[in-house]
Amino acid sequence: MTEQEPKKLDIDSKDIMGENLEKLKEMFPSVVKDGTVDVEALRNVIGDISEPNQEYYNFMWAGKSEAFKIIKEKTTATLKPLKSDDESVDFENTENIFIEGDNLEVLKILQKTYHNSIKMIYIDPPYNKDKDFVYPDKWSEGLTSYLEYSKLVDEEGNITSSNAEDKSVKAGRKHSRWLTMMYPRLFLARNLLKDDGVIFISIDNDEIKNLKAICDEIYGEENFIEQIIWRKKSGGGQQDDYLVTEHDFILMYAKDKELFSLNEKTLLKTSYGYNKLDEARNKKYKLTKLSKWGSSAHKEDRPTMYFPLKDPDGIDNFPIAPDGRAGRWRFGKQRLYELVDNGFVEWVNNNEEWIPYEKEYEPEDNEHAILKERSILYDLVENTEGSNELTELFKQKDLFDNPKPSDLLFHLALLSTQTDNQDTILDFFAGSGSIFQAIYNLNKYDNGNRKIVAVQIPEHLNKKKKENLKTYNFLTSINKHTNIAEFSKERIRRVGQKIKDEKSDSNVDTGFKVFKLSESNFKQWDDTPKSKAELQLAFEEYKDNVKEGSNQLDMLYEVILAKGLSLNSKVQEIEVGNKKMFRVDSDGVELLACFENEITQSALDEVIELRPIYFICLDSSFKSGSALKTNSVLRFRDADILFETV
Ligand SMILES: C[S@@+](CC[C@H](N)C(=O)[O-])C[C@H]1O[C@@H](n2cnc3c(N)ncnc32)[C@H](O)[C@@H]1O
Repeated sequence: MTEQEPKKLDIDSKDIMGENLEKLKEMFPSVVKDGTVDVEALRNVIGDISEPNQEYYNFMWAGKSEAFKIIKEKTTATLKPLKSDDESVDFENTENIFIEGDNLEVLKILQKTYHNSIKMIYIDPPYNKDKDFVYPDKWSEGLTSYLEYSKLVDEEGNITSSNAEDKSVKAGRKHSRWLTMMYPRLFLARNLLKDDGVIFISIDNDEIKNLKAICDEIYGEENFIEQIIWRKKSGGGQQDDYLVTEHDFILMYAKDKELFSLNEKTLLKTSYGYNKLDEARNKKYKLTKLSKWGSSAHKEDRPTMYFPLKDPDGIDNFPIAPDGRAGRWRFGKQRLYELVDNGFVEWVNNNEEWIPYEKEYEPEDNEHAILKERSILYDLVENTEGSNELTELFKQKDLFDNPKPSDLLFHLALLSTQTDNQDTILDFFAGSGSIFQAIYNLNKYDNGNRKIVAVQIPEHLNKKKKENLKTYNFLTSINKHTNIAEFSKERIRRVGQKIKDEKSDSNVDTGFKVFKLSESNFKQWDDTPKSKAELQLAFEEYKDNVKEGSNQLDMLYEVILAKGLSLNSKVQEIEVGNKKMFRVDSDGVELLACFENEITQSALDEVIELRPIYFICLDSSFKSGSALKTNSVLRFRDADILFETV
């Protein structure tokens, strides 16, 4: 690039590893030489570094180095806006986003725009069951393999990559493949979290230990908060092999535990479990055992707290420890008799045995003690509720396998996001889109302004598979493509409408903008070695680098992403010097973009008068030779306008 050439817009995704190198260089300039780390110099500044042949604690699997290659590989893919009413709802005004595509590519594309800006991530990835869809990433192919995947599958969804998965399962690489799929996604997701952000990941027994191992590595053991147990069902399950498994896990990590805090206030308002009503006092309460549990629960620990209470049959009842030995009460004699006299003790008959409980009343709004959430979500909501929600919306059953109940996600967001902070919540394994139902409802509940970003691959539905057939038929009946992303969008539309119907005066944003993972709108310069003739040809072809079929709005959103501006920027189409241009306002940054075939002196004069922060146009628009271009570089520089071409 000569002095007078405009800067070229960098449309590639962020160079993640390069950025890490820069950070290291900032701290220890002597350590990075010619773009690589000098390990000897690093040892000098930080002391010991484990050698590969020394024994040290490390989590390995076949494919870990592949995972790093996948992270490192940049993408030139972009997101195409789908503005029409049969895709998006209220595209112009909504700040919720649904992205259709493979989440690896999408997470790479979002690195610039959402760097450090997501408050909460919730994901519910495939649990790695035999039937689960695990997308076959190929680090060297990225978007190409995604597009291939999309093309490979016919309208009936006959070739699914689950078949490819079956083969690798047979080859015994099941866990490794899953880990190689998850690692880059979790790594890239961390960059998007705000410093006080948090990630929740649903999982079950099959992968919990592997997931914990990679999260400890990516998020840091010191940022582990909890391995929440969510009781997802009660009863049934007698077909299970050994024990009836009633729970899933939800792993929870902060980006930085020092900066993260849970919402105690909100927790208090919704502290649940007060499931009984004292009609006389008109107050809700819950029962807590009067005999002590946990540590020091035996008679010999506190002999004075072992004394009889008269049960409803008039018989002396003594405290029993959880192990069945003589126990002790939680209160001394005087306090416990007071509770009995004031009616704060309730007796429950269990198998002919009376057990005394303390009646704990729901706190009044203004008398809240600080209550922390518990690590076992025992009776929050059950899995079946997720299916019930879909049945209610679609008036038919079994359209999606195991959707999460939106109340579960509602609760996690209530714990960790603010009502009026415009917090963004990301779910990049969105499935049926439960996250939308959760956040729409939460915003409705507390008049909040949280925003959603969700990603879902258009996983094809194979009508020959029994479990896909109903959804396949349903989507066909409403003239939609037969893939899961289409089902998610339909669910989100229906939830939005339901909320509007329930509360017409609500100002909850129930819209969503749809974007689709696509190839770049611009031709990439292919830098493989060329002969003189080939080079000449390549130059000719590259002169007009806009790909056939690209429209101006698509190009604009590619520029927005490349500049790291918000997908919720306000976009206005304006005329400047007889040319169509777009004015983009993104949190105080103003950008003007022009994608016309030809740009003129008068249009450029007017741009300068408008004084945007950035002006971006096509390099090929400078038809009348380089004089106008070089002249513009100087004039934009003088006017303090950052000028780039693409
Ligand atoms: C367990 S489901 C999520 C269910 C969701 N929580 C709900 O309540 O409906 C996981 C989803 O991730 C999707 N998925 C798998 N691989 C993906 C990928 N590479 N990119 C985006 N989505 C993917 C699958 O299609 C599946 O729908």
